[in-house]
Amino acid sequence: MNIMVKDLAKIRMLFVTVMCLSHVCAEPDGNRVFTYEQALAKCDELDLKPPVPDADGRLQTLNKRGAVTATPDYATLEFLKYAKGKSVLEIGGAYGSVMLTALHQSKDTKYTLSDLDERHLFIASKRLAKEMQENKLDIDSAKQVQFIQADITKDQDISNISTYEAIFVGRVLHYLTPEQLEVTVKHLFLLLKPAGRIFVVAITPYVKRYESFIPEYERRVGAGEKNPGFVQSLQPYLNRDVTTESQCKNITDDPFFFLDDKVLRSVFEKNGFRVIESTMKPLSYVSTSWALDGRENVILIAEKP
Ligand SMILES: C[S@@+](CC[C@H](N)C(=O)[O-])C[C@H]1O[C@@H](n2cnc3c(N)ncnc32)[C@H](O)[C@@H]1O
Repeated sequence: MNIMVKDLAKIRMLFVTVMCLSHVCAEPDGNRVFTYEQALAKCDELDLKPPVPDADGRLQTLNKRGAVTATPDYATLEFLKYAKGKSVLEIGGAYGSVMLTALHQSKDTKYTLSDLDERHLFIASKRLAKEMQENKLDIDSAKQVQFIQADITKDQDISNISTYEAIFVGRVLHYLTPEQLEVTVKHLFLLLKPAGRIFVVAITPYVKRYESFIPEYERRVGAGEKNPGFVQSLQPYLNRDVTTESQCKNITDDPFFFLDDKVLRSVFEKNGFRVIESTMKPLSYVSTSWALDGRENVILIAEKP
């Protein structure tokens, strides 16, 4: 049979698609799904260490995508209550802080920790190893987890359709453009089982660090703009008086989307979710850099009918 180069490329594409649909989105040249043991081996190979916490207890990410919060907020707590004993997915779960709490709560929870940056996942496995070595968690906890490197905005990274009973998306959606947010919500809908729930927390414009953006945001809201919190760059609005030098270095160079209850409700309802709650909430920790007036976070809890 005369197979041309073009056909070989098609066969390769077909192979990738079948792999994505049958198990997880594995690339021919590298597996992006990791068991606990594989993630731990990668952590050692790359000599990765958990970062040193900031003064407020937050752990900065390695890819300029914010920091991991030390104290769980309302959406995280609601997710943790709901997640007990279920098959759950966390998007942008970074170093696995919420995962570790979920493992402490139940031996029956099946936890998939996913993130854009695989180094975060490897460090999460190391943190889990430490908890098991110190007998804080049972050795079998490792069997409850898997790690997936994936970009939630990319169609080709979406597999495990209709698998999860609950999904947590903590402080991730504000790193997306309005178009990426729309696609992401479609993906979240696909990943959830019917009657499954989604728990979201994101940053609003009502934060000390970027408070000079508030008048512009409110002007856009008044003008009826669809995505009033979207900015091409955070730099023009950065309040350097409340941001340390090392925090400044870790701010994304990409566009940013300050979210609010109306924008979140609208995009989730448009994509088929039944919104249970969508409200602004205060921070769960003390912060001179972020705390403003009790509307710093927006949370959304919704169900797939
Ligand atoms: C601010 S951290 C949040 C960590 C944790 N969820 C929390 O609430 O403390 C944001 C995380 O989202 C991840 N992230 C950003 N964009 C993403 C995307 N498109 N797909 C998957 N993860 C993403 C980053 O790599 C980072 O680890």
